[in-house]
Amino acid sequence: MEATGYPQLDALLPRLAAIPTLDAQALHVERIAVLGRKQGALTFALRALPTFAAEERKRFGAEANRVKESFEAAFAAREYELAAQTAGAVRPAIDLSMPARGRWIGAIHPVTRVVDEIVGIFRELGFAVAVGPEAETEWLNFGALNFPPDHPALDMHDTLYLTEAGQSDEGRVLLRTHTSPVQIRVMQAGPPPYRVVIPGMVYRNDPWDASHAPAFAQIEGLAVDEGIGLVDLKATLTHFARRFFEPATKVRFRPSYFPFTEPSGELDVECQICHGSGCPACKQTGWMELLGCGMVHPKVLQNCGVDAERYTGWAFGLGPGRTAQQRYGVPDIRLLYGGDMRFLRRIAGQDPA
Ligand code: FA5
Repeated sequence: MEATGYPQLDALLPRLAAIPTLDAQALHVERIAVLGRKQGALTFALRALPTFAAEERKRFGAEANRVKESFEAAFAAREYELAAQTAGAVRPAIDLSMPARGRWIGAIHPVTRVVDEIVGIFRELGFAVAVGPEAETEWLNFGALNFPPDHPALDMHDTLYLTEAGQSDEGRVLLRTHTSPVQIRVMQAGPPPYRVVIPGMVYRNDPWDASHAPAFAQIEGLAVDEGIGLVDLKATLTHFARRFFEPATKVRFRPSYFPFTEPSGELDVECQICHGSGCPACKQTGWMELLGCGMVHPKVLQNCGVDAERYTGWAFGLGPGRTAQQRYGVPDIRLLYGGDMRFLRRIAGQDPA
């Protein structure tokens, strides 16, 4: 810093120049010695202020300020320098040329998100949640659900068998092909009424194509009580579809066949990708199958010890993978179940590409 022209202030300048040579201890002492409010050398120099005439006082004040700021800056710079030296001594130098580690942000898988949302809608309607094992017996997966032995419907439920034939009264153990056996478990566990939704993974010897996976999620629904009719099924499932998609979503029920429901049906919703005009995802029909459903077959109620004269009910089974395709406009289910992080990140909204 240049001289100020005031001997009281200029006498301090050699001390300013010496600051970069001080160690931490000396720096602390010097800061108080120069800037200390009561005993500081600068405070002392300012005592000359009243001896100046008004105009000169102003100039002296401005110069004294300049000196003060220079000292403050020099103290701060030396402090920073000493701190950096200490840090360098205990930590290895940082290699700034090294590429940063990628950030890995977790997110809920789109199919799980759909499962959670669907289960949430049914919980609002008073349904509880039940789960069951993925390894089931032939009896629970088929027999109790009224699949006659050798019925062609069994062909569509081919799966992996985990035990040999004849090991128990309930037949072989297999990877369950649907969540419907948990209906049986729920009904065997206690008396009606039942209102449950059952999410879980299921397994089939299905092709791995745009709309089929060999391992996929399902959600089962079951409502059994006195006086339950088809109108309850239609009203509840229509409400669900409109709550999940848009309030004005078009729905339609088509007749179908399942051994464990009578009558049976399928619920379609207007294709959410083309909005009914026809596209490859809906095979140009404008409709997408959402779920299979029907009135619980009296034989199934009887197999679970439920009085079929007194109680009636309805059930449904839905594939959240296909529902997620509709929700997120995904043309191929393999993208959802394939584990490609680039795609999953995009769906999770973490990658705008
Ligand atoms: C069943 O699995 C019945 N248990 C559903 C049911 C329950 C009907 C209760 C009546 C009463 P289905 O085979 O249609 O039905 O499968 C149900 C849903 O699972 C389908 O609508 C579809 O969304 C999905 N799904 C079926 N196979 C596959 C597959 N290979 N990959 C992905 N999703 C599939």
